[in-house]
Amino acid sequence: MIAESRSVRPRKGRGAMGRRPMIAGNWKMYKTPAEAVVLAQHIDNLILDDPRSVESVDIVVCPPFVDLKSVATVLEFDHAPMMLAAQNVFWEAEGAYTGEIAPGMLADLGCSYCIVGHSERRQYFGETDATVNKKVHALVAAGVTPIMCCGESLETRDAGGTEAFVREQVRAGLEGLTADQAAEVVVAYEPIWAIGTGRIPTPEAANDVCRSIRATLGAAFGQPAAIRVRILYGGSAKPENLGLFMPEPDIDGALIGGAALDAESFVSMVKTAAGFAE
Ligand code: PGA
Repeated sequence: MIAESRSVRPRKGRGAMGRRPMIAGNWKMYKTPAEAVVLAQHIDNLILDDPRSVESVDIVVCPPFVDLKSVATVLEFDHAPMMLAAQNVFWEAEGAYTGEIAPGMLADLGCSYCIVGHSERRQYFGETDATVNKKVHALVAAGVTPIMCCGESLETRDAGGTEAFVREQVRAGLEGLTADQAAEVVVAYEPIWAIGTGRIPTPEAANDVCRSIRATLGAAFGQPAAIRVRILYGGSAKPENLGLFMPEPDIDGALIGGAALDAESFVSMVKTAAGFAE
């Protein structure tokens, strides 16, 4: 019912703004290197059947660190039309930081993007807006584009504080970038209560937050930069609901967890996004 009424809604100019849809699969802590190769090849095989998706959507896979090399090899060997991303990074260029990974190492492996500030890292690993900001700067300096996550808890939402909270995360996370650098960043709006829960906000509510993120970007970096930034929705995004979010004018794609671990569901979401490319 909702899907019907929204699918006939006129699209409002994402293409006119030059924003290419992006579908990014966050594999989280799933898939061994061997399993990651199988998944990447399966996605690639399915995508190659659909040139329209390849032409019109930025397709990104974000495997665990230990899988990056094997997936990079698949993408290179198969000339796969997908880009590689890491899920985290440390901000120093090198040094005695046992267990950490530097931005330049990701660049060297062929990572185009890196997720930063995912709510799971904020919750379990002490990530703050300040450390997110350091990572953003380090990635930009290394030529890897940050996919910076933001999103409110259920308590914040119930208290009516969503927009103020998310705006501050975005402001603080991107502080100190130039307008040109900020324009390249991808922001993922992921309400924490929607991640892995099967619950989703209404597309209008999600777009309201994304519009507010764009306004924050405009205030910080100017309007020309703000209209270039891609903002993804994340949180229980699935083949059944992506078509509800994509028509929204400030939503340019999705960061997908669970539904990205199945090649068919991931590729069907890529195809959905292609339907909204202009
Ligand atoms: P989900 O995860 O799609 O499984 O809700 C999204 C994310 O955490 O990026």
